[in-house]
Amino acid sequence: MTKTKKLLAFAAAVCLFTGSFLSSCYYDSMEELGYLGTVCDTTAVSFSTDIQSLLDNSCLTCHSATSADALGGGNNMEGYDNLINCVTPGDPSTSSFYNSIAWVSGTSFMPKAEPQLSSCEINTVMAWINQGALNN
Ligand code: HEC
Repeated sequence: MTKTKKLLAFAAAVCLFTGSFLSSCYYDSMEELGYLGTVCDTTAVSFSTDIQSLLDNSCLTCHSATSADALGGGNNMEGYDNLINCVTPGDPSTSSFYNSIAWVSGTSFMPKAEPQLSSCEINTVMAWINQGALNN
């Protein structure tokens, strides 16, 4: 190799290295800021919009008033008045609603025989309980 070629090869290597290094930094900070995924906002969780839709999507096939006896071990979680039986307002750690979706060992992992809910959904339930498990 000539001196110039060596220099060019070195410059290319440096560019490759710093290029990937910088882009991974960029990616990490974007991810931390939530720009790459869905932003998970748990500042004011609402029963009627956030919790109800989660139950509709993932739980009520087995835990509705009509399905609970046959499919949900008798646990009717349809509507606020029934769901609140699985909740200690202000304390997720003693709420079977939270423990079952957080897959805390010693509890039945829910949704039964399905993949775990997203961390955003789990955090939303935790926040709702911490915020007093209101019928809001
Ligand atoms: C495919 C049916 C099915 C689905 C879907 C399902 N469950 Fe269950 N669930 C059950 C059954 C059956 C039981 C009874 C205990 C057992 O068999 O594990 C149960 C029990 C429970 C219990 C009581 C646990 C205990 O320790 O007594 C809670 C709380 C619960 N489920 C929450 C949920 C939540 C929240 C969802 C949705 C994210 C959900 N389940 C989705 C079938 C289901």
